[in-house]
Amino acid sequence: MCSTPIRGILNRTMKSLYIDAALGKPIPRPPVWMMRQAGRYLPEYREIRQTQSFMQMMKTPEIAAKVTLQPIRRFGMDAAILFSDILVTAEAMGGQLDYIEKKGPVFSNPVQGLADATNLETEGIDEKLAYVFSTVRLIKKELTALNIPLIGFAGGPFTVAAYLVEGQSSAHLKVLRKMIYESTDIFDCVIEKLVAVTIDYLNGQIAAGVDALMLFDTWAGYLNWEDYKRYCVAPLKQIIQGLNNPNNLPITVFSKNSGMFADLLTQTGADVIGIDSQSDIGLIRSLVPDSFALQGNLDPFLLYAPESVLESRVKAILAAMRPYKGYIFNLGHGINPDIDPEKVKLVVDLVKSSGN
Ligand code: CP3
Repeated sequence: MCSTPIRGILNRTMKSLYIDAALGKPIPRPPVWMMRQAGRYLPEYREIRQTQSFMQMMKTPEIAAKVTLQPIRRFGMDAAILFSDILVTAEAMGGQLDYIEKKGPVFSNPVQGLADATNLETEGIDEKLAYVFSTVRLIKKELTALNIPLIGFAGGPFTVAAYLVEGQSSAHLKVLRKMIYESTDIFDCVIEKLVAVTIDYLNGQIAAGVDALMLFDTWAGYLNWEDYKRYCVAPLKQIIQGLNNPNNLPITVFSKNSGMFADLLTQTGADVIGIDSQSDIGLIRSLVPDSFALQGNLDPFLLYAPESVLESRVKAILAAMRPYKGYIFNLGHGINPDIDPEKVKLVVDLVKSSGN
């Protein structure tokens, strides 16, 4: 019999709930994973972190692989996400990056003028980020036995540019958003270089064996509609088109305030749209064509709520997404460091016990 090949399963050896959901197929229950599922809320993470900086942890493949697997072993999530950070590309381009306690990432040489932008390096990504590819290979050795897929990722160009230009986390991205209009040439140069580097970086992750990819353009939601198309959708589309992805590994795009922009995000060529917590995900489901899967969108702050409240909100999201097809349960943003791991367990168990 001659049947049309289904996107993403050509030559694919791994078959999993997460991949099925990401490819928009009907599923018996939603797969579940959480953004920042490996991190400081886990005692076993803090134990390692006491003796190592975050940067050392990321750059030591054995440690990064071990930490990636911690939440999988403890809670049994349906997908693992590479333990790394979106800013490794910016560092590989020449950004002097450090993570400062209680402050977050800082670049001591922010991009301010055209010369800074021109000097950003785009060559040699394979060598500079080889530690990430080694981590991917180590993780895959462990995960293959568990039949759990590994999600690789990169930052969206706008979001990585936010740190490269502002030099640190910033409440309103004022320096960056002024640059768009006052020095468009500098801004465009940074974005163009980030697109090129991100393509090489994700191609390296694919070659190393990831099973799916995610692009975090967290801060693109600050943009107005026109500039969201120009500086979030267009660069993400260029990246996705530039991938060497013969097995059509599913790709997720995420930004904060993505609800409003969900339909635009379908133009990137991604398979899955990550939805943040502000939106009614059931409503978004009715607006976005069902060939696109959705991921989301429990408010991470609900993990502070009493169990009964948390449980009812998880159930409400599950009810809104029935019958399950092309849906991945997640938070609307990352887990905070002071969350009780038992709350995470409760959510994972609830989703795993939810049948159609
Ligand atoms: O989701 C995961 O578990 C995978 C790993 C991951 C990290 N960062 C680990 C991390 C991923 C996917 C990211 C993405 C990331 N990093 C984004 C986009 C998504 C988002 O959360 O908005 C952004 C904007 C960053 C930049 C970044 N890295 C910030 C602002 C910070 C400081 C805030 C904080 O939580 O401390 C980081 C550090 C960081 N990245 C940590 C972790 C586990 C904390 C490291 C530590 O001190 O132990």
